[in-house]
Amino acid sequence: MKNFNYNIPTKVLFGEGKVKELGKEIKKYGNKVLIVYGKGSIKRTGLYDKVVNILEESGIEKFELAGVDPNPRIESVYEGAKICRENEIALVLAVGGGSTIDCSKAIAAQTNYEGDIWTDMYQTGDTRGLKDVLPVATILTIAATGSEMNGNSVISKMDVNDKRPIGSDLLRPVFSILDPTLTYTLPKKHLAAGIVDILSHIFEQYFSPDKEGFLQNRVMEGLMKTIIHYGPKAMENPEDYEARANIMWTGSLALNGLISYGKVSTDWATHGIEHELSAKYDITHGIGLAILTPYWMEYVLDKDNVHRFVEYGENVWGISGKDDMETAKMAIDKTKGFFISLDMPTRLSEIGIDDSKFEIMAEDATKFSTLGSMKKLNKSDVLEIYIRAL
Ligand code: NZQ
Ligand code: ZN
Repeated sequence: MKNFNYNIPTKVLFGEGKVKELGKEIKKYGNKVLIVYGKGSIKRTGLYDKVVNILEESGIEKFELAGVDPNPRIESVYEGAKICRENEIALVLAVGGGSTIDCSKAIAAQTNYEGDIWTDMYQTGDTRGLKDVLPVATILTIAATGSEMNGNSVISKMDVNDKRPIGSDLLRPVFSILDPTLTYTLPKKHLAAGIVDILSHIFEQYFSPDKEGFLQNRVMEGLMKTIIHYGPKAMENPEDYEARANIMWTGSLALNGLISYGKVSTDWATHGIEHELSAKYDITHGIGLAILTPYWMEYVLDKDNVHRFVEYGENVWGISGKDDMETAKMAIDKTKGFFISLDMPTRLSEIGIDDSKFEIMAEDATKFSTLGSMKKLNKSDVLEIYIRAL
């Protein structure tokens, strides 16, 4: 096992009705908040009114940034940072999903930073210049990204069709409220996309060619089985509390750092390949992942890494009595079948993507380095995966 420093400081308030603790938690940081939210779902569900009432009752002054896009834009970040600077905001409160949370983290980072974080950080991936970051808190309304407990932020700049991630412990939310009932109103498409995203985060850390990571891999198999068990139940009955709660907590555990601490290597190629689709076509992240994952699996599978596919097939899907390659291929088919059962598309052409940008997407995906560890993917590998997924 590799050395690591465990650092997951986000305080989690989990369960139905936990929103009522919002005022008390915010007051630990100050009396002025910027509420950041998306295109209006929180107004339709009544969550916005609830939050505003709590803030009023707690004597907390609120400012707002509304309209954050799925695939959040750098322009929203600049707007939010300006509000924070002009009003001496003490805490940025994201109410929504990964897009709103990622935008809030970027706002918290940009507010007291003299340069432009898009150029200095998202373009380079280098966050060492981050120092004076405002505290961020979240009220999560969709289980998907894990952004509610991690230090990642993914931002897009649409005029140049670019989407880039950064990561820093300074961006980890100080507290997150996870009430599974807040996800009941999610449209099925976004529920399914979130389920795929969670599973993909686990895959990205599970699939590595090393032979170590016994503990981490067993924990991950438990998380995968939880998603595979409860995903269809939530699709079937949106108000199944147990299903929503299991999915929500798995989403946080899948990408708060816990499962990769000590692992020798992780992969993350599929995310790199997908981010190009979102950047060029503004598609939903989880839908891109659902299409690409089986093609990525088929492409990287070889005799040197088949052992991990075998563990996956046997421990997650209960496949037995086959030879290694057969088990691996059956496990890939099971994965694809699971995504299809969630009504996910299986080809890029189904979501209106043709091959006209494959070349530039493959170029941009590998601009800084090769992708992945199961197999190191260069531009021509990525191009081939897009072609197979068409
Ligand atoms: O904008 P509103 O009106 O709020 O609607 C949202 C949005 O349309 C809607 N929604 C959310 N909660 C709802 C709801 N509708 C009804 N009821 C509710 N309870 O769902 C849609 C999707 O929301 P979004 O925040 O975009 O989803 P998600 O959480 O999947 O975030 C996606 C973004 O996160 C990035 C993705 O690339 C993408 O930009 N990622 C962030 C990561 C991180 N920070 O660690 C890692 C991920 O791999 C990912 O890259
Ligand atoms: Zn993801």
